[in-house]
Formats: sequence, C-alpha cells, structure tokens
Amino acid sequence: MYNPRSLSTLTPTLIAQHLTKVIGDRTIVDDVSFEVFAGEVFGFLGPNGAGKTTTIRMLVGLIRPTAGRILICGHDVQHQFEQAMRCVGCIVETPDLYRFMTGRENLAHFARMLGAGDDDIARVASLVNLSGRLDQRVGTYSLGMRQRLGIAQAMLGEPRVLILDEPANGLDPAGIREIRELLRELARTRGMSVFVSSHLLAEIELTCDRVAIIHRGRLLRTGTVRDLISSRRSLELRVGDVPRAAGILADHQPTIEGDCLLLPLDESAAPPLIAALTEAGIDVYRVAPHRQTLEEMFIEATGGETVD
Ligand SMILES: Nc1ncnc2c1ncn2[C@@H]1O[C@H](COP(=O)(O)OP(=O)(O)OP(=O)(O)O)[C@@H](O)[C@H]1O
Ligand SMILES: [Mg+2]
Repeated sequence: MYNPRSLSTLTPTLIAQHLTKVIGDRTIVDDVSFEVFAGEVFGFLGPNGAGKTTTIRMLVGLIRPTAGRILICGHDVQHQFEQAMRCVGCIVETPDLYRFMTGRENLAHFARMLGAGDDDIARVASLVNLSGRLDQRVGTYSLGMRQRLGIAQAMLGEPRVLILDEPANGLDPAGIREIRELLRELARTRGMSVFVSSHLLAEIELTCDRVAIIHRGRLLRTGTVRDLISSRRSLELRVGDVPRAAGILADHQPTIEGDCLLLPLDESAAPPLIAALTEAGIDVYRVAPHRQTLEEMFIEATGGETVD
C-alpha cells in the first residue's frame, strides 16, 4: 500500500514550468506552473474555453509549448519525449476507441503497440470493473463503460502519471461516482499521480486532493481543496432585523445573505458585536463561522463567470 504521509518528501512526478501557448495573436495558456506528486489526485478546474485541453495537449506532447517546460518523472517532454511518455497514460477529450471492436480487441490493439500481453489486458479490465463485458462490442457500451475502457487503455503501460481531460463529462451521477472512486483508488493504493481536468466544481471538490484554477489561460490559485475553501473565513450572524443590524455593524463591511449577515471577521471578534446588537434591541439567533465553499471562491476568483 502506498504511504501518503511520505508525499511531501517525494519529488513531483509531473512538473509544468511557465507553460505558455500562443496561437495567432492569442495567448491561450499564459505562464502556467504547477507540480503534481505521487499519490495525489490533482484537479485542473476551469470554465469552458479556459485552456484546460490546450494545457493537456502540451503535457502529453501533442502540441509544442510556445514557452515553458514540462518534466514527467524527471524527463523533459520536449527533449526526452519517449522516456517521458513511457511514464504517462492519458485521455485527451474522449478516449480513442473503435466502436466496432470488442473491449478486449481495443485493449489488444493498444497492448500490441506497448508490448503488453493478455495478463496486462486482464489486469486493467479488472481494475476498471469491465472484465465481464470485455467480449462485447464497444458500440454497445454505455458512456461510463467507454470512459472506463479508455482509462483501462491508458493504464496498460503501467504509467506513474495518469492525465485525463474531463473524465466525468456526460456521465450520470452513478458513472461520475465510479470514475471518482477509481481515480482515488489509483492514487491512494498505487501511488499514481492523477491529473484530471474538469469544469464541474462539485466533482473536483469531491475527487481531488489539490486543485489549480485556470481562467482565460491563467492560473488563479493552486492549493489543497481544504485550504482553498477555508482560506477566507467569515462570521455569519442570524439576526432579527437584518437592515438595522447591517447599519450598526457598517464599519465591518457586512454583506447580507437572506436573514444573515456575513462579516469578514474571525469568531473571536463576535462578543462585542453581539453586545452592540443586543443593546440596540436586535435579537441574535445564531453566530457561526462561515466557510467559503469552493464554488463561492471560484466565483470570486473569476469575477463571477459561472461554471456548472
Ligand atoms: N488550435 C487553435 N486555434 C485557435 N484557437 C484555439 C485553438 N485551440 C484552442 N483554441 C482556443 O483556446 C481557448 C482554450 O481552449 P481549450 O480547448 O484549451 O479550453 P478548455 O478549457 O479545454 O475548454 P472546454 O471546457 O470547453 O473543453 C478557446 O478559446 C479555444 O477556442
Ligand atoms: Mg477542453
């Protein structure tokens, strides 16, 4: 079993340094840097058109960065392409599958290119829970099964780094949960680095250990999901007369949310505020720390442009 406590002492398996892609006169990816460690699921979160797929294309050598460098397991993608790619399994946009062939034939096709054998096919099929359906044609598979077969295919070469572009796209909640559990298992028990892009905020929050937020080609923030959520604490007060309470606490820049006031203060600042409100005859029903959700943080960081 992989020991996640040793994470911080490990060298990152995937390093992107100052990645930039200019196409025509547009900078599509702008000075993006991040590191992904063994044993973690790293989320790359951004709305449509943010530059996620373009970044992934550079990571796996499908397009050349205008500037910057990518190291995978210590190999420079530009100068040691084959060594770097031997460490990577990936799905860019949708898995490359032949619908008229069975799952097994699809895997065999890719296994041949990698020099993998029947045992490897059985191993990856069982990993994604497809062993029982392997001899049916891919055309009869559900979207979730095709996605899982794609992941099996990406796992054939026993990569240390798995890069998936929006693996939850189009899946129903059960399919999304299956993929989430699979990715977490690959990171937890096998110590793989899993890099996964998504525009689905809730999904990233549930699946990933760390997340980078990309918007218009630029990274806005990178951090653990927990740190990003709790980076901005505020105090929530539920009071009887919201407008009057807001007036009394005006110096603390309150925002009104329903029957609550949110103040950018720590819990320790609460007692004098409660006293001031009570003195003014305003009932205080609840005082609680308010944790900013990833969604609120994203909306703030992107200036209100929405994601799903
Ligand atoms: N070859 C290209 N030529 C011109 N523009 C491009 C090219 N590839 C991507 N773009 C533009 O770059 C921006 C980022 O595209 P990209 O596909 O990386 O976004 P994305 O984050 O993957 O979005 P989505 O969530 O829709 O998949 C988009 O505005 C896209 O139109
Ligand atoms: Mg994309």
